[in-house]
Amino acid sequence: MKRRAVYPGSFDPVTNGHIDLIHRSAALFDQVVIAILGNTDKTPLFTIEERVEMLESVVRNRRNVSVTTFSGLLVDFVERIGASVIVRGIRAVSDYEYELQMALMNRRLSSRVETVFMMPAETYSYLSSRLVKEISLLGGSVRGLVPPAVERRLAQKYKGMAGAAGAVPGARRK
Ligand code: PNS
Repeated sequence: MKRRAVYPGSFDPVTNGHIDLIHRSAALFDQVVIAILGNTDKTPLFTIEERVEMLESVVRNRRNVSVTTFSGLLVDFVERIGASVIVRGIRAVSDYEYELQMALMNRRLSSRVETVFMMPAETYSYLSSRLVKEISLLGGSVRGLVPPAVERRLAQKYKGMAGAAGAVPGARRK
């Protein structure tokens, strides 16, 4: 039986930490479906189409990884596509509480779906999409933290936001 896993998230934007986890999960499961949450109460920086594009360019050469979007309950999506595993990354103990709560709630919603926690490489243990956006906004370098294509897109986004860095005291423009 083929094991299909879902790696869900906002991916706003995808970071090298996410990519590390994609590679690790692709080595463990027959198929990995990266599922980007569409309907969220957070206001994303990148549109869902942009996030799909960025992730697709990252997994282009991975035969057993695909990218899609979902809305509604994650467990419903997982079951609908015939998967049985949710992959989530845990960087530090601080992630654990929230992730445990979600995993147990998802288990309550569907006992057929199991959550697997994976650790990214230590290099990425302090990396998050939120920090990447903040650094970019303030004119700092995110080289080595995100793929080059994402780095370019971040620069474009914030270039378009006239005065964004200028609004923050001490912020440098790129
Ligand atoms: O990258 P994120 O923002 O930490 O991902 C969170 C995500 C998308 C995994 C979570 O918000 C989610 O699963 N949302 C779908 C709605 C849902 O199923 N909610 C109940 C979760 S217990």
